[in-house]
Formats: sequence, C-alpha cells, structure tokens
Amino acid sequence: MAIRKVGVVGCGLMGSGIAQVCAAAGFATVVREVSPDVVEKGLKGIEKNLARLVEKGTLTEAQKGEIRGRLKGTTALEDFKDCDVVIEAITEQLPAKRELFAKLDSICGPAAIFASNTSSLTITEISTATKRPERFVGLHFFNPVPVMKLVEVVRTIATEPAVYDEMVDFGAKLGKTPVRAHDSTGFIVNRLLVPYLLDSIRALEEGVGSIEDIDNSMKLGCGHPMGPLTLLDFVGLDTTYYIANIMFEEFREKRFASPPLLKRMVLAGWNGRKAGRGFYDYSDPAKPKAMKF
Ligand SMILES: NC(=O)c1ccc[n+]([C@@H]2O[C@H](COP(=O)([O-])OP(=O)(O)OC[C@H]3O[C@@H](n4cnc5c(N)ncnc54)[C@H](O)[C@@H]3O)[C@@H](O)[C@H]2O)c1
Repeated sequence: MAIRKVGVVGCGLMGSGIAQVCAAAGFATVVREVSPDVVEKGLKGIEKNLARLVEKGTLTEAQKGEIRGRLKGTTALEDFKDCDVVIEAITEQLPAKRELFAKLDSICGPAAIFASNTSSLTITEISTATKRPERFVGLHFFNPVPVMKLVEVVRTIATEPAVYDEMVDFGAKLGKTPVRAHDSTGFIVNRLLVPYLLDSIRALEEGVGSIEDIDNSMKLGCGHPMGPLTLLDFVGLDTTYYIANIMFEEFREKRFASPPLLKRMVLAGWNGRKAGRGFYDYSDPAKPKAMKF
C-alpha cells in the first residue's frame, strides 16, 4: 500500500511534533484538535519550529513553505476519511482513546492503518475498540519528536505481519530509527529506563550518595548527558510515578514499584522542573540547587 496521506489526532507536545515530521517527510498531513483555537496554537508552534530550522540553516525558506503547505489543521474527524495512516497522540486516557478509535473506524477506509503513541497503555486494549486490530500498531515517538531519532514500533498478538513491516518502513521514511517491540507495558525504553530512575531514588533514600553525587556519578562515570535525578525532574515526577504504577500493576516486580519518597514528592506537588521544584529547586532556572530533604 502506498502511504500518501497521514492523519494525526492531537496537536499537543507530541502530536505537533509528529505532524511536523510527517509533513517534512513529504506526506500530506491533517492534524485534528478539539477546538479551532487549539488547532491554531498547535500549528503556530510548528511554524515557530520550522522558522528556527530556517534560522539555523537546516531548512530553506522554500522548504519551510512546502512543509507548511502539506499540513492542514482541522477539528473534523471526517477529514481523516481518505487517510492511509492515522496516528493518535491525545491525552493518556484509555476511554478517550478507545472512543476516538471507534469513531475513526467508521470514518476511515478499511485499508487504513491505525497507530497509537501511548507511553503506558496496552495497544491491544486500545485496538479492540475497532474492528481492525490486525491493522493496529503502536508508534511510540520521543520528545521532542523532530529531534529524537527513535521510534518504537509496537506489534500486538493480532497485528498482521505485513502491516507491521509496513509501519517499520514508515518509521524509517519519517527519518527515524525504528525498533521492533512487543506490546509489553513500557515497551523497550521505559522497561529499562523506569527501574533505573526508581533505583536512583532508592539510592538517595538509603543514603548511598547525595543528589549531586548520584547525578555526577552517572554523568561522569557512565557518560550520560544528565544524571537520573535531573532526568526525573525533566520527565516530571508525576509522569514517572504514573508509569511506574502501571508497570508495577503489570509485572508485580519490586523494581517497578514507586519508592516512598517519589510518592511523597508527587503528593506535595514537587513534580520537577515544570513545578519549579523536584530533586532540584528551579527558583533560578539557570542555576538549579539540589533540595535538602
Ligand atoms: N510527553 C511525552 O514525553 C510523551 C512521549 C511519548 C509518548 N507520549 C504520549 O503521547 C500522547 C500525548 O501526549 P502529549 O505529551 O502530547 O500530551 P498533550 O497534553 O501535550 O497533548 C494532548 C493533546 O490532545 C488533545 N486532545 C484530547 N482529546 C482529543 C481528541 N479527541 N481529538 C483531538 N485532540 C484531542 C488535547 O487538546 C491536547 O492538545 C499520550 O498518549 C502520551 O502518553 C508522550
């Protein structure tokens, strides 16, 4: 099947990035949001990103115009009726995702392939809201989408092998390195990353090292671009807590269990950089200061 037109649902942090890379890869792209002003805001964000690439010399003004010309914003799901692929990047809530895909199932042609960008939900459970679980995959992009090179392409036990191969190929056409993963909670990256982040909190709780020393150890000893506690502040402690709980629910293994300190920080609203406070205090964002617990 030749993929010509891509639909993206949601134009927030992830959806806007996904729509941008689809249009940049040459696909006619339609992106849907809940209201005209949110569509407008999302498209403005993409335009700003493209303008930055022109300033840096990565894109020409003409290329920027072509990419923007391939992008259309809408509030109407009916505009997805001739899409070959639909990628969903709406809020991380199962009922909302299932309701959306059930509607799309009746609007889109039978050959259209559906994909969800969910980080923590089960692709199988989302796909069964449609009559096409065999044409359903996960496409898990990373933030910021235009910059991060990876896409996890996720297959369920029902995904047709030819559909799966086509989506792996599609991921490569978007300029990403696709990796193949099963529909197991957390896929590959969070399966490995979440226990590591949780262990760094346990090390802090047990007094193995201070916040700065734990972060510096992984930066300077392992060559990581940032330490785990700084990374937790970036990702958001609430987001990590939420994913850890879902993974613990699935695997029932201690390594996925939230340490008491994480739960208390989330209860206190110390959710990391976005909250101004996490493992570091961001009163002066240029000079974060390690918290004293
Ligand atoms: N933030 C990340 O780092 C990250 C990374 C990988 C995957 N994800 C996943 O991507 C998805 C989106 O996350 P996000 O961070 O972009 O969230 P976000 O809150 O920035 O964006 C979600 C957008 O979806 C819109 N929306 C909600 N219901 C809709 C509907 N029915 N139709 C159209 N638009 C709708 C909202 O208005 C909002 O703009 C989630 O499933 C999340 O788990 C997030």
